[in-house]
Amino acid sequence: MLYQHEFDQSIENAKKFWADKAQQLSWYKYPEDILSVDSKGIHHWFADGEMNTSYLALDYHVENGRADQPALIYDSPVTGDKKTFTYAELRDEVALCAGMLTQLGVVKGDRVVIYLPMIPEAAISMLACARIGAIHSVVFGGFASPELAVRLNDATPKVILTTSCGIEVKRIIEYKPLVDEAIRLATHKPATCVVLQRPQALATLDPSRDVDWHEQIKAAVPADCVPLKGSDPLYILYTSGTTGKPKGVVRENGGHAVALKYSMTAIYDMKPGDVYWAASDVGWIVGHSYTVYAPLLHGCTTIIYEGKPVMTPDAGAFWRVISEYKVKALFTAPTAFRAIRKEDPDGKLAKQYDLTSLTTIFAAGERLDPPTYEWLSDTYKVPVIDHWWQTETGWAISSNLWGVEKLPIKSGSSTKPVPGFDIQILDEKGQQLPPNTQGFIAIKLPLPPSCLTSIWGDEDRLKTSYLDHYPGYFNTGDGGYIDEDGYLFVMGRVDDVINVAGHRLSTGEMEEILGKHPAVAECAVVGRKDELKGQLPTGFVVLKNTIDNANDQSLVIEQLIQMVRQEIGAVAAFKEAYIVNRLPKTRSGKILRKTIRCIADGEAYPLPSTIDDPSSLDEIKVLFK
Ligand code: COA
Ligand code: AMP
Repeated sequence: MLYQHEFDQSIENAKKFWADKAQQLSWYKYPEDILSVDSKGIHHWFADGEMNTSYLALDYHVENGRADQPALIYDSPVTGDKKTFTYAELRDEVALCAGMLTQLGVVKGDRVVIYLPMIPEAAISMLACARIGAIHSVVFGGFASPELAVRLNDATPKVILTTSCGIEVKRIIEYKPLVDEAIRLATHKPATCVVLQRPQALATLDPSRDVDWHEQIKAAVPADCVPLKGSDPLYILYTSGTTGKPKGVVRENGGHAVALKYSMTAIYDMKPGDVYWAASDVGWIVGHSYTVYAPLLHGCTTIIYEGKPVMTPDAGAFWRVISEYKVKALFTAPTAFRAIRKEDPDGKLAKQYDLTSLTTIFAAGERLDPPTYEWLSDTYKVPVIDHWWQTETGWAISSNLWGVEKLPIKSGSSTKPVPGFDIQILDEKGQQLPPNTQGFIAIKLPLPPSCLTSIWGDEDRLKTSYLDHYPGYFNTGDGGYIDEDGYLFVMGRVDDVINVAGHRLSTGEMEEILGKHPAVAECAVVGRKDELKGQLPTGFVVLKNTIDNANDQSLVIEQLIQMVRQEIGAVAAFKEAYIVNRLPKTRSGKILRKTIRCIADGEAYPLPSTIDDPSSLDEIKVLFK
């Protein structure tokens, strides 16, 4: 009842619903225009309100009794470092970093690219940009130079903030050479590159462009918060689409702050002062929203963890952090739990720690598959909530609203629509489908606060990618169904996006890379099921007939694997490719990727009526017999 009432209010009286939620924040000027539509027909929330996200996340709490409360805890099993920042300390660090950016000429509206591992400076940089109205764009450290170069060209930043290195378990990843190479490849050259020297590997600085982080901070004057409009962009976060060019999702300040603040109570059931831990890299949306912004907007303590769920040093790592800092809610991707289960199937390591503080586990990034759900809830005896989201929305689209009404959990379902998201299951033609019928998941417009309002640098892409397909709806790109109780089951992407260890990747982009190899005539990449990572990209290539001996063919495969690693990065986890004589296609020449994927996964598949030659499937069937 409570949930249904909350949801109905959000749809029937959306403006009033969100205007009330906006009252939870301390605006410089409370918005009059709660929901407006621009000349392109795009909705904006709280456009004329005046506020500053960094103020709300830091200064507001310092001024309201939380100055000495821990705001951010840094825990790095890979270096052995631990550090706690109170709200006052974090505010001061952020103000200095903002001062450093100001001194480097960054002003409101300028872009700043952040290419940093999981260290406090990653969060500090984001909040520093927010403080002066600069638009940050964080690039995940696992992306290689060409991916960073694409983002530099698109976002055209004035400054890039980086470090000498990151640490992957025991391996030192030198960031600076990657940045140098990205800047060399990019047509847009940032004026300044600020480098944080870490003792594990010192970087060589180019005096014509690079400056030392610590020296700049020493000379910096703290910068104050700049009042911003609710519709001013807070950040750009690039995400994979179906083509090689990533989409720069633009998030506005006002709607973002309102939705995230609301979610901390309604979805996560958190109170100010609680310790909340989203174990995600800040390079992804979960890291943006729930490692940095939401917990701080709500006055909670957040954790920046520079480690893995396993290997740093073992599968008890998460439970150690939970007991050490009295974490109340943990949020991470199911793949992390599958990694823990593989190493510690009986949950013995967790028993070494006091986990009484932990009340709930939240999962997202990919579907929480029923076996992992059952294992998690049986082993750790706390409610486990799957919730579905996208970079585009910035927060959960469907969830169990744990802070409103604890609905029964159904394994495999992300429960019900979050207030504001009018989820519909549509067929190919846009007709609504009845319960228990699988279709395309769409959201009726307007979208609630925090959802994307444009794709950076491409005026039309929001419409062409998301809005044109079903007029009046946002097309999520996911497929699934709603059951007779109104529970949503998200079953996977209906486009060429795959999900590898909770990381969203484009098979189209991988195909573009494979197609560049001179020996490749044509290719297809599909996401094959993987027990640990959910999916793994698998390539199928047809070679030009000049390459016919086995040695040369294996060499080509090796080169293709290296090409994807060098162009996208290790995070693509592209390690498997097969040479075939031909690819199954429709009569009009379209590659039947879904059929290939079903065969590779050992799933039943209907023989497409449009297939050109059914015998073209035989070769793939033999490969996965
Ligand atoms: N910088 C540089 N390299 C990175 C990196 C980073 N920030 N993050 C990952 N990589 C590298 C890894 O070292 C690995 O390299 P390798 O092929 O040489 O071994 C590769 O990218 C793939 O990384 P990953 O997919 O993380 O695999 P893994 O085997 O190292 O770890 C998991 C597997 C499941 C433990 C890990 O993926 C994980 O913790 N996932 C949680 C995902 C998550 O938080 N998602 C965000 C949404 S909630
Ligand atoms: P990202 O934009 O990187 O967060 O990836 C979003 C995509 O991840 C979605 O479109 C889904 O395909 C998938 N996803 C995220 N969370 C879930 C979930 N709880 N259940 C099913 N799929 C999910």
